[in-house]
Amino acid sequence: MDYKTIKITTSEAEKILFELYNIKGKASSLPGYIDFNFRIKIENEEGYILKISRPDENKKYLEFQQDLLQSIEASDENLIAPKVIKDKNNNSISEITDAFGKRRFVRMLTWVSGSVWSSVNPQLEDFRFSLGEQCGILTKALQSFDHPEAHYTFEWDIAQSLWTKEHLHLFSEPKKEILSYHQDKFEAIQTSYTKLRKSVVHNDPNDNNIIVSSDVLHPRAKAAIDYGDAIYTQTINDVAILCAYGVMEHNDSLDASLALVKGYHSTFPLEEIELEHLYHAIAMRLVIIATKSAMNKIEEPDNEYLWISEKPAWEVLEKWRLISPDFAHYSFREACGFTPHPNEELFGQWASNHPFQLSELFPSIHLNKVHPIDLSVSSTWMGHQEEFSNMDWFQFKMKQLQGEVPNNIIAGGYLEPRPIYTSSAYDRIGNYGRESRSIHLGIDYWLPAETPIHTLLEGEVVIAINDAGDKEYGGLVILKHQTETVTFYTLYGHLSVKSATKNKIGDILKKGSKIGALGNYPENGNWPPHLHFQVMLSLLGFNVDYPGVAYFSEMEVWKSICPDPNLLIKSEALQKKEKTTQRDLINYRKKYLGKSLSLQYKVPVEMVRGAGQYLMDSMGRKYLDTVNNVAHVGHENYAVVKAGQEQMALINTNSRYLHKNINALAEELIETLAPELNVLHFVNSGSEANELAIRMAKAVTGKKDIIASEVGYHGNSNMCIDISSYKFDGKGGKGAPEHTHIFPLPDAFRGKYRGNHTADDYVNEVQKQIENIKNKGRNVGAFIIEPIISCGGQIELPEGFLAKAYQMVREAGGICISDEVQTGCGRMGKTFWGFQLHDVVPDIVTIGKPLGNGHPIAAVACTQEVADKFANGMEYFNTFGGNPVSCAIATEVIRTVKREKLQKNALVVGEFLKSELKKLSKDFPIIGEVRGQGLFLGIELVDANLNPLEAQTDYIANRMKDHGILMSTDGPDHNVLKIKPPLVFTKENAEELIYYLRKIFTEDFMMILL
Ligand SMILES: Cc1ncc(COP(=O)(O)O)c(C=O)c1O
Repeated sequence: MDYKTIKITTSEAEKILFELYNIKGKASSLPGYIDFNFRIKIENEEGYILKISRPDENKKYLEFQQDLLQSIEASDENLIAPKVIKDKNNNSISEITDAFGKRRFVRMLTWVSGSVWSSVNPQLEDFRFSLGEQCGILTKALQSFDHPEAHYTFEWDIAQSLWTKEHLHLFSEPKKEILSYHQDKFEAIQTSYTKLRKSVVHNDPNDNNIIVSSDVLHPRAKAAIDYGDAIYTQTINDVAILCAYGVMEHNDSLDASLALVKGYHSTFPLEEIELEHLYHAIAMRLVIIATKSAMNKIEEPDNEYLWISEKPAWEVLEKWRLISPDFAHYSFREACGFTPHPNEELFGQWASNHPFQLSELFPSIHLNKVHPIDLSVSSTWMGHQEEFSNMDWFQFKMKQLQGEVPNNIIAGGYLEPRPIYTSSAYDRIGNYGRESRSIHLGIDYWLPAETPIHTLLEGEVVIAINDAGDKEYGGLVILKHQTETVTFYTLYGHLSVKSATKNKIGDILKKGSKIGALGNYPENGNWPPHLHFQVMLSLLGFNVDYPGVAYFSEMEVWKSICPDPNLLIKSEALQKKEKTTQRDLINYRKKYLGKSLSLQYKVPVEMVRGAGQYLMDSMGRKYLDTVNNVAHVGHENYAVVKAGQEQMALINTNSRYLHKNINALAEELIETLAPELNVLHFVNSGSEANELAIRMAKAVTGKKDIIASEVGYHGNSNMCIDISSYKFDGKGGKGAPEHTHIFPLPDAFRGKYRGNHTADDYVNEVQKQIENIKNKGRNVGAFIIEPIISCGGQIELPEGFLAKAYQMVREAGGICISDEVQTGCGRMGKTFWGFQLHDVVPDIVTIGKPLGNGHPIAAVACTQEVADKFANGMEYFNTFGGNPVSCAIATEVIRTVKREKLQKNALVVGEFLKSELKKLSKDFPIIGEVRGQGLFLGIELVDANLNPLEAQTDYIANRMKDHGILMSTDGPDHNVLKIKPPLVFTKENAEELIYYLRKIFTEDFMMILL
């Protein structure tokens, strides 16, 4: 058909509108697959949709559609759907003759306002649930409706989709293989599929046919439109179609489909038999899209709408092909509240009636008792990654433990989140960032190499291979057991290759026969010798490398497919104990810890392990850390950990005894500081460092008045709070005390003075405070400021400001303190200390956070003069400050910065990141400013009038956390995203950060009009 001869223009539509309905409105053309659709706008009204058929359309079919809409309107369900508008002559379908003399039918419906589902960004789980919910309500409303015209031949009906087989020739490999795979599978299930319950369904709930509410934070599906494809077919096809479109543009298609299915099931309960067919039905809708697109490209090359879904459909088809249909089936069951594996309960019953002894599995060991071992992410027995990755050490520790419990077999691990599998080799990018395959599905029995393994019951060998490779199974045997009630499989991993592969597929091993013997590393997959014993209710199509660990997000499904092997052996020591939940932790904290201790993020995270620039939660999920500048040389840096552990094993006392560690630390620090700053005192925290610094200043000058910056923060002690405008000017604060003098935040972007040359203006503000003090008949004690004001929102001091301010303070008799608690130890990149960026030498430098890499140690460096004046006879005693353990740790931190050239890394990665952030700010103007030095950066979010965007900043931090990236917010208006990661942060990490920032900046909530 020539598209040009059937097309209707907008002015023709307006004319038809007037002639038939006596309505004057503005028509604009809408995409349509069959009809020509026009949106009719009328001032102050919702408007209409005018639908003009193609020539010679079947009128009866249109009548069916009008009846359907009227039936929905009359249904009890609280459904929003377009309503039928009758023409001047009270017809719900009118007839016209077009310019080519062809008969066309015209219908008009009310316009359902709102945006369409495809425009929603992001499409989170709650939203997808609501899509399912809405679709289920619609299915329910149509249950009692039928019409002769609803029974017709239609290419878009999944039930009729095998027509696509005729068109395979349009494709070449690998696409052809994918299509025929799904067609063959669908053909094979026809007998049961055709028996599924049927009803009239919408048949096209795609992402342009569902209208959503306008709430950008919590959008919900509101109504389905365009009923032009409605048909009497298998009811499940509607949810299948919803899923086919709903999983597009999501990394993990199966995961994306689950909320849709769950939502649908909540309003229209699906039957178990239907869920068995859902994977294939979804696939077949995608097959139809792919086939129709290929055909339409040839038939109507001008109508791009006809292949709009081709690319995303293929992206899903490629992924869908790799998903086990059984796994999908069990996942759908889980989403609908059924036991994921249909035989889970049967297996449990069978196992409870058939007790086995451990000595049947290991007859040569003669032991039946188990000593449980915790190898989870939070296990202190596992210790540091460097240790558990060292096979000899792991094995040595295991042997030691075996020696301690000679009458037990060491075992455990079912559903344990293991740190071993959190390396990037086990990672995938799911719908919410990085996921690790960390959940262990079997029980490990830690026994010597060569230990023979015997079968508990008769089984047929279905897999016997060498699954070679690091952290694989090595020698692997899987047996199939057919009992009177249930079929299941048992898996034996990490056998010696020879003993495993001696078995032949199809061999029947009688109860008690030997399966093989434990292997040693490296042939057993490079593990200390142990048996990985797993039970499976389904092989899921795997013929090698059956998963022994699963992604946390899929745990509920996997635990049903792979039930606890201890159901067979029933070792008491391995019975699952109730675990402390996150709720328990929160509740306890709320009850027994101070209310002013806050928790980060709307949904707080329980962190149990750190590794470099990553933190890991209790389920082994890794988070990229852009926040914790305390873990300066990387979380749990091994050299630092060891330095602390080793020294702790020797001696830890106060600094009144001689010890080389305190001198070594002083030496390391002095090497980095200006020559004038050559005396050190060691304390335990940044607050304590500033407390001491102020005491020193008072002792040296004899004056109490301190000048500090607006929104500065210097610590939590009494004195520190008194000089921290961030606190006393913030919530719960009572303003500046008598002896504190605050000058305005030297913020050249949104501060009192703005632009490129503000140094003198802010210096004048400092001068005003000096005069203020003098006017009270007193004089300046000290001036304290950070080189980049962190709580102020990473505010860089204007060029030249610090030198002039120092000069004036000194002229007034005060001394200058540089608070380097955040900025010190190489983070600035260009310089080791922040003050060095400004070409000044303070009288006192306070050092905190990074110095101990998480261990509480801090320091005060000062000039000889300050130190001498402070030492007025009163002893400065600090119980913990400068103890040998803290000093060993801090020395190793500074040495690591130097050895691993982390200052250089801060410079290179920091500059790269800053330039990428600046590029981002060009695309997203709400990024008002990107600032900072090295790996100490800030991004400030503002509207066109420079008003702070706190809610958007908070949104970004929380959404980044959803994607496994930790970020923090700060600044007086809470509109600055701070970036201050461990210095081992890499360029790849920076790229990942930018990738997700870019993604989230495009989300609806961030799209504020500037
Ligand atoms: C600039 C600055 N100074 C001092 C402190 C206080 O350090 P601490 O928390 O170790 O007492 C902090 C803490 O955040 C800080 O940011």
